[in-house]
Amino acid sequence: MKRIFSGAQPTGNVHLGNYLGALRNWVALQREYESFFCIVNLHAITFPQDPKVLAAKTRELARIYLAVGIDPNVSTVFVQSDVAEHTELTWLLNCVARMSELERMTQFKEKARKQQENVGVGVFDYPVLMASDILLYQTDLVPVGEDQKQHLELTRDLAIRFNRDYGQTFAVPEPFIPKIGARIMSLADPAKKMSKSDEESEAGCIMLLDDVDAVRRKFKRAVTDSGTEIRFDESRPAINNLLTIYHLLNDRSAEEIEDHFNGQGYAKLKGELAEVTIEFLKPIQERVRSIDDDKLDAILRQGAEKAEAIARVTLNHAKRNMGLIGARK
Ligand code: TYM
Repeated sequence: MKRIFSGAQPTGNVHLGNYLGALRNWVALQREYESFFCIVNLHAITFPQDPKVLAAKTRELARIYLAVGIDPNVSTVFVQSDVAEHTELTWLLNCVARMSELERMTQFKEKARKQQENVGVGVFDYPVLMASDILLYQTDLVPVGEDQKQHLELTRDLAIRFNRDYGQTFAVPEPFIPKIGARIMSLADPAKKMSKSDEESEAGCIMLLDDVDAVRRKFKRAVTDSGTEIRFDESRPAINNLLTIYHLLNDRSAEEIEDHFNGQGYAKLKGELAEVTIEFLKPIQERVRSIDDDKLDAILRQGAEKAEAIARVTLNHAKRNMGLIGARK
């Protein structure tokens, strides 16, 4: 069986972009692949975090994975820092990665521009940790949103270079980026992606744990384009984004949706979209609340054990190939 690996950071709150771009596909693919879904708390600490909040958000994200439909009897769910191999492989790959290729990462450039000389070493090294996550599991497929594409290309380059220089060690993974939903835009500014780290964009971001009033308010205030027609059209990014969300959440075809809103105004679209979203979020929020703490602990413990057993084999293989094991007679 081929393997999937993916993860999300336990920072801020999980939003519709995370769900539609990534988590939704994890759920859809988990029975076709042997799947590993990680809560990447080591990536989260590349920015300062309140330790108590980080610990709570880590558990909350695990609950959300389960609540959206990740089945712990089928998939392995674990916390990144519970499997030390991730950090150890990062060091080996640091010695294979080049400054120039990490400097080219657009996410790093963005963050470096904002923070200038105070930008952390962890922010710079972030993509190498991500490559380690993926390569440890001999991953075939990585379901992510479009913003992770460049990190995936780096992961492939590092795997290919390591295999060339030290002998076959890692599978070279393919990205899985959905045709629709790979880049959900902010409701407040359709030129920007929906994002949890951008504080100004709270109003443009529907969180999976938002209450009914917040969902209605955010859709009501959503920016629209000039014109009045309601149809899928990439040259009108605001309406296109709202229609994409509608399409993915209630599984109606683009044609049906356009027919349905034919001759209607934007207020009708926003109102219906809010109700569709509320209906979609309700059972997820109920499941998040109902998962018992002990059960969650057991899932994460078993997940870490299973992940570690596989990660250990790959790490030892990489160390042996680099001459790090066998030096002692
Ligand atoms: P993170 O936590 O920022 O986001 C989790 C997933 O959500 C996707 N995503 C979006 N998709 C569509 N529209 C949006 N507006 C949107 N915003 C976010 C992201 O593409 C991602 O798939 N570096 C990763 C976490 C990571 C990882 C990994 C992923 C660490 N190691 C190994 C895959 C494999 C990140 O920051 O995701």
